[in-house]
Amino acid sequence: MTVHELARGFDHLDPHIGDTVHETLREFRRECPVAHSEAHGGMYVVTRADELRTVAEHGEIFSSAAEVGAVVVAPETGRVIAPLFEQDLTEHAVWRRHLQPFFTPRAAAGHAGYVRRVARELVAELVPRGEADFVPDLCARIPPLVVASLLGIPEPERPILASLVHRLAGAGSEQEASEAGQEYTDFLLAQIRARRGASGNDVLTSVVNSDIGGRLADDYELLKFAFLLVAAGNLTTTDQLASILLELACDDALRRRVVADPGLLPQVIEESVRHESAVAATGRTVVTDTELAGVPLHKGDRMLLTWGSGNRDEKYFPDGDEFKLGRPRKPHLGWGAGAHRCLGLHIARVELRVICEELLAAIPDFRAPQGFVPQRSYGVIRGVKSVPVTWRSHRAQ
Ligand code: HEM
Repeated sequence: MTVHELARGFDHLDPHIGDTVHETLREFRRECPVAHSEAHGGMYVVTRADELRTVAEHGEIFSSAAEVGAVVVAPETGRVIAPLFEQDLTEHAVWRRHLQPFFTPRAAAGHAGYVRRVARELVAELVPRGEADFVPDLCARIPPLVVASLLGIPEPERPILASLVHRLAGAGSEQEASEAGQEYTDFLLAQIRARRGASGNDVLTSVVNSDIGGRLADDYELLKFAFLLVAAGNLTTTDQLASILLELACDDALRRRVVADPGLLPQVIEESVRHESAVAATGRTVVTDTELAGVPLHKGDRMLLTWGSGNRDEKYFPDGDEFKLGRPRKPHLGWGAGAHRCLGLHIARVELRVICEELLAAIPDFRAPQGFVPQRSYGVIRGVKSVPVTWRSHRAQ
């Protein structure tokens, strides 16, 4: 099969491509960096760092608005345009400005105490067990609570949001999904409505009451915004944490180095975001005829931005397949680029660091089974399905 034929059948949502996707994308980078796929009604798969940046930095040509056909991330939210996520240019900038104060490094540091408390409790429960699957037992547990806190949901109600998110993600039938979806919608709508006219220093109260271009956002715009913010803050951090812990569980020398010097954690986190970017692929739509890497593009064409592929682009990272500490600091695409670059990256960094600190302090010797072969997922989000570990000793807290 030629690379172009391989590209024609490439579907980022195919559940079977997780283990081979990096090799496939490497071929695309070499032979057809803007590759045409017939999946999902047709799309161009952008794989090299330079073209990814070009697309991300030109919202006037490559739109994030799902209404014009971007690869839809959350079809269940219908045709309502999500503020921020699905907006371009000036409209997007207005929302981003309103939200910025909640996402500064300083604001992010303000979440550290809550993350530490929750992580310490969870890890303390794990310690005597001597074994766990870190994905459900740890990675998936904290991020929804942190997003709930960021939204301004009172602490006693945060586990409700977390359990709704998990029920929706784990629904075994359409009926279960629809029931969980309805409860989730009702929960968020009640939170939104309770904040109309209220004061409070949290994301939801702020966006509910912000004047955006001479009006207030309606309930359904805010609902979609809240859905996407929960997804952006939850699934990403869960999967990134799984990739980090997998690395530490499979590489004794690395884990020992980090246990001895937790100051290395920011490097471990950044290298993981480069190496196995949790946000694997997101969409844009062409709104003005153009050309990219010699490929003519027309209004309405859909683009798939494969961020993780850009992070292994040989031009910038010749040994990009390797997870390596101490790389020279180079910008990577794991947090995206351009106007939509991750707004929550400082929160994610704090969250990942604090959870890892707590875990390594209490259980310094966790290990995956000898020869463990992880099953990787791919799609909008990249992660690991399971990180089974055992440990013997633990340190008193
Ligand atoms: C390791 C974890 C994370 C990774 C790898 C990540 C990655 C990304 C990437 C690649 C984008 C750009 C998508 C695009 O342009 O199409 C993005 C956008 C975004 N992320 Fe993150 N993210 C993470 C965690 C978070 C967290 C914890 C939050 C919030 C609590 C968050 C909030 C957002 C928001 C709001 C956007 C949209 C920004 C905009 O449209 O202007 N992210 N993220």
